[in-house]
Amino acid sequence: MSILLKSPIDALRQYVEFPSVSADSKFANGVKGAREFACARLEELGFEVNLVPTPINPIILGTRGDPSWPRLVIYGHYDVQPPDPLDLWSSDPFTAVERDGRLYGRGAADNKGPQIVHMAALARVLRDIPDYPVHITYLIEGEEEIGSPSFRGFLEEHKNKLQGDLLLVSDTGSPSPDQLVVTTGLRGLCAMEVKVFGPKQDLHSGVHGGALLNPLQALMHACSSLHDADGRVTVPGFYDAVRPPEKWERKELAKLPTTEDEYARFLGVSNFFPPPGYSSLEAIRFCPTLEFNGVGGGYQGEGSKTVIPAEAFAKITCRLVPDQKSDDIAEKVKKAIIQACPTAVRVEVEIKGGGDPYVVIPPGKPGSTGEETDLMKKAFRIAEDCIERGFGSSPIFLREGGSIPIIQDLKEVAGLDSLMIGLFTNEDNLHAPDESFHLGIMDRAIHSFESFFKELV
Ligand code: BES
Ligand code: MN
Repeated sequence: MSILLKSPIDALRQYVEFPSVSADSKFANGVKGAREFACARLEELGFEVNLVPTPINPIILGTRGDPSWPRLVIYGHYDVQPPDPLDLWSSDPFTAVERDGRLYGRGAADNKGPQIVHMAALARVLRDIPDYPVHITYLIEGEEEIGSPSFRGFLEEHKNKLQGDLLLVSDTGSPSPDQLVVTTGLRGLCAMEVKVFGPKQDLHSGVHGGALLNPLQALMHACSSLHDADGRVTVPGFYDAVRPPEKWERKELAKLPTTEDEYARFLGVSNFFPPPGYSSLEAIRFCPTLEFNGVGGGYQGEGSKTVIPAEAFAKITCRLVPDQKSDDIAEKVKKAIIQACPTAVRVEVEIKGGGDPYVVIPPGKPGSTGEETDLMKKAFRIAEDCIERGFGSSPIFLREGGSIPIIQDLKEVAGLDSLMIGLFTNEDNLHAPDESFHLGIMDRAIHSFESFFKELV
């Protein structure tokens, strides 16, 4: 019997123990192992599985059923974030350990657990209804955690294989094991790296200090000009395309069980700093940001060192909301940095990839077109019922702050809209030490998805 039927938790354990870190080529074997594990599960389920090569990690493409049936596409990613810092883990990141109703390990929640949920539910459906009349295309990529650099090219070349009526994704979050969210939007992203060059080498700050502009000082000057004192981004045109949230979105947000105080305690901060006019819980969903993810230059060791560094750098990303465009915002920020940087140093801004934001209006909500596919209309309705039965409360329909850039690409190129059901929570420590997946959610979600798939036909 398939491990998906026998013990989904064991399946997750095995999947987690392949260290499939895409950011670091040292883990190539783990990446391959996770990929083969996922392929084997799909084959067990009766899928015809193909690997589409990319310059980095091949994309898994599985299909089953008759193309004349309603067509569902299911997305996931088999790669994970690096486990560092290792010394902050309570157990080895690539040994799956069960503790207090959770399974610990890198990738347990993001995104291996949710993938096992879908597969285990499908295993039950296909056991009971071998001719289950839904055409399913499985799409599992291995470069999501490094920004899906190969995906756009793959999509242009293989879009005919990704035709469908709806995309199902579980790679987003929910507030608690008793309150799931249907994610109706994701923020986009644009990334850039700023380098500021001064003298040809590090200098003695006594011998030369005062004669020239310190590159770190120039960088800090340019960077600090990008926000005003209230935290609004000052880059000209940055907010031009921002679409304000719909009325129903604010109403849905009001249903969130989390209070601002609880959220502050969870983060360990005493004050929030959202842009004027927004609460902190609104800001992460409805507002764009410009964040400094890393700055460097000069002496970083113990004690002091009297040095003028030859160069300084900053890594910046912006989170974007509809209808901002990643390329457009990157250009605007680049221009603002170059303009704000004193001319006594040389500045370079390199734009690194990104992705556009995504939003879906659930069928029937104000602003929806009524032109959604039948499968999409049915899926949103059934998902609501199945979640209510499985988890004891109806889901909240909410946008999320995180990004999965390929979701908007799939909308643009293949016309696919997404039903995103959040299965991880803040306590799962995504991208952080002690990542885990809540086994109660896993169990309930498998039941809910089993009913969901069965009621879809
Ligand atoms: N699963 C997350 C995205 C996510 C997290 C969506 C929480 C909604 C709520 C995904 O794996 C991820 O981490 N994405 C990156 C994208 C980046 C690497 C291009 C992100 O959001 O930083
Ligand atoms: Mn993920």
